[in-house]
Amino acid sequence: MEKDLGDYRKSYEKGELLLDNVPPHPMTLFENWFVEVDTHFNVDEANAMTLSTFGLDGFPKSRVVLLKQYSEEGFVFYTNYTSEKGEAISNNPNVCLSFFWHSAERQVIIKGKATTVPESVSDDYFNSRPRGSQLGAIVSNQSEVLEDRAILDAKLKALENEYEGKPIERPHYWGGYSVEPVEIEFWQGRPNRLHDRVRYKLSKHKVWTIERLSP
Ligand SMILES: Cc1cc2nc3c(=O)[nH]c(=O)nc-3n(C[C@H](O)[C@H](O)[C@H](O)COP(=O)(O)O)c2cc1C
Repeated sequence: MEKDLGDYRKSYEKGELLLDNVPPHPMTLFENWFVEVDTHFNVDEANAMTLSTFGLDGFPKSRVVLLKQYSEEGFVFYTNYTSEKGEAISNNPNVCLSFFWHSAERQVIIKGKATTVPESVSDDYFNSRPRGSQLGAIVSNQSEVLEDRAILDAKLKALENEYEGKPIERPHYWGGYSVEPVEIEFWQGRPNRLHDRVRYKLSKHKVWTIERLSP
C-alpha cells in the first residue's frame, strides 16, 4: 500500500510572534497562549500534550498525557510510576513536552527535568478524580502485557464491589510528575513556511535568554 501526501498543503496565517512583543518570562507567554487557545480557538483538550522520554531500550518514545497544572515551577501530569514512561523517567529525567494547537497554528516545545510531585499533591489530585478514574488507576498495570480485555473488566467489577461505599486511597505507584523547564520554544505558523520561532533558554545563572530561530 502506498499513499502520496505530497499535495497536502496549508498556508498558516493566523498570527505572528515578534521578539519586541514577547514577555521576559516564558510562562507568561505560555499562560497567554494557553488561555487564548482554550477560549478562542475551539481546541478540544488544549491541555493534551505529547510527552517524550528516553526509554531503557535506547529509543525515544512519545505519547499523549494531560497537563493538569502549570506554574513557574513546572508542568504537572499524572500517571503510573511503574509504566514504561515512569521507568524511563527514573532512568533519565530529561523529557520533552509538546503541544500542537492546530486551529491556532501554534506549537510549544518544552525541554525539562521531570521529578515526582509531593505525595500530598498527588493525594489531593487523586481524591478530586471521579471514582471510575480512581479505580481505573488501581485496575490497570499500565504498560504491562494484558492477555485479555476481559481480565480488566472483571478486575474493575471486583474492585467496584470491594470499595462500595468506601473511600479509595491513591495507590503508591500512581502520582504526578512536574517538568521543570530549561527551554521553551513557541512556534507560530506563518505564510510560505517562514514561521515564527521564539526560544527561551535558561542560562547557568537562571536567567531566561530569548532568541528567534530560523523556521
Ligand atoms: C488525550 C489523551 C490523554 C491521555 N492522558 C493521559 C494521562 O494524563 N496520563 C497517562 O498516564 N496516560 C494518558 N494517556 C494515555 C497515554 O497516551 C499512554 O497510552 C499511557 O500513559 C501509557 O504510556 P506508556 O506505556 O508509554 O507509559 C492519554 C492518552 C490520550 C490520547
